[in-house]
Amino acid sequence: MGRARHVISVVGARPNFMKTVPVIAALQRRPDDVRHTLVHTGQHYDDAMSRIFLEELGVGAPDVMLSVGSASHAVQTARVMERIEPVMTDLKPDLVLVPGDVNSTLAAALVASKLGIAIGHIEAGLRSFDRTMPEEINRVLTDQISDLLFIHSPEARRNLGAEGVSPDRVHAVGNTMIDTLVAMRARIGEMHAARRRGLEAGSYLVVTLHRPALVDGRLLADAVAALDAVAADMPVVFPIHPRTDASMKRQGLSFRSPGMRVLEPLGYVEFLSLVQDAAGVLTDSGGMQEETTYLGIPCFTLRDNTERPITCEVGTNVLLGLAPERIREVPGLIEQARAEPAEVPPGWDGAAAERLVDVLLQAGLGRDRDLAPVGPPGG
Ligand code: UD1
Repeated sequence: MGRARHVISVVGARPNFMKTVPVIAALQRRPDDVRHTLVHTGQHYDDAMSRIFLEELGVGAPDVMLSVGSASHAVQTARVMERIEPVMTDLKPDLVLVPGDVNSTLAAALVASKLGIAIGHIEAGLRSFDRTMPEEINRVLTDQISDLLFIHSPEARRNLGAEGVSPDRVHAVGNTMIDTLVAMRARIGEMHAARRRGLEAGSYLVVTLHRPALVDGRLLADAVAALDAVAADMPVVFPIHPRTDASMKRQGLSFRSPGMRVLEPLGYVEFLSLVQDAAGVLTDSGGMQEETTYLGIPCFTLRDNTERPITCEVGTNVLLGLAPERIREVPGLIEQARAEPAEVPPGWDGAAAERLVDVLLQAGLGRDRDLAPVGPPGG
């Protein structure tokens, strides 16, 4: 019998929580094999962007809070690195688990790699092939230095192979964010968020927009005008991200249509309840493209590319381009989309975290680990 391994999970921003929580739960079901510590970098710090998720998902307060807050990319990344290094040096984990593609993900992975600690990357191998996106840089670099690459989409294996990553490091475990959706489905179903807000199921559009390419500059005014136009046809529910809210204020923008319902960011259960009963979703988020695929809700993505092409292949997601005027087409596109059934990709089934932990426990970890080497390009 070997000793229990020590795993640190690092979360920082809203989408990280749903990807990591099922893995924490699966680790906690094996207390003889694993000890777990949750580190929150504090990249997101508003209650509505952070605390509410951990509470709803049953995790509670993190063991370590680094409180890095908002700053430029370099400063935010550097702050996470400076503050997490002593934590890792002190705790000497066997593995650091990082999810997704936010600045906290890359920062934690870099520090672990310099300390010789094994890294597991949840949601590895996704590529938009758009290196102007901060997330794409975070993905490529995190994958290069991770030892265990947990993928949930078939093209991830090809993407990693093309970057010279040894196939031995790649493990198709499925989608842990969908685990959260499956685990919370009953609570989501009981919430009736639409009815509580006086909205008829199947009648309204849910909107989330927050990417810098769309909201930081002049495209935001076009998006606001187009959403006002859509809201004349159908109710539009827009829980607004703090980045978007700040940019609207800075640019002096506001909605005019009475059909527009601008809300504070919502908790996980209420938000997914609204999505589940929506006629469609307009978004630039990554996670939404996957959640709508699982739920079979038409999704329209206001970006030129997606790192989640499988959501388009199965037919629930349509790329509109980074073209706010196309928002006006959404009510018509929803009508056409309704006939198409969704096919859920393999491994998006609620059991991904269990498979991930199986892989993790079978891998040799720690300083005596025997991990597959990084393969030469094309070799
Ligand atoms: C980050 C991620 C993005 C992810 C998104 C989900 C990076 C590079 N980007 O973007 O991939 O899709 O989270 O939300 O890591 N703010 C608050 N309160 C908060 C957090 C942020 O007011 O709790 C405001 C601040 O004005 C801040 C701005 O939002 O400057 C942006 O926050 P930041 O963490 O830099 O990036 P996001 O746009 O949230």
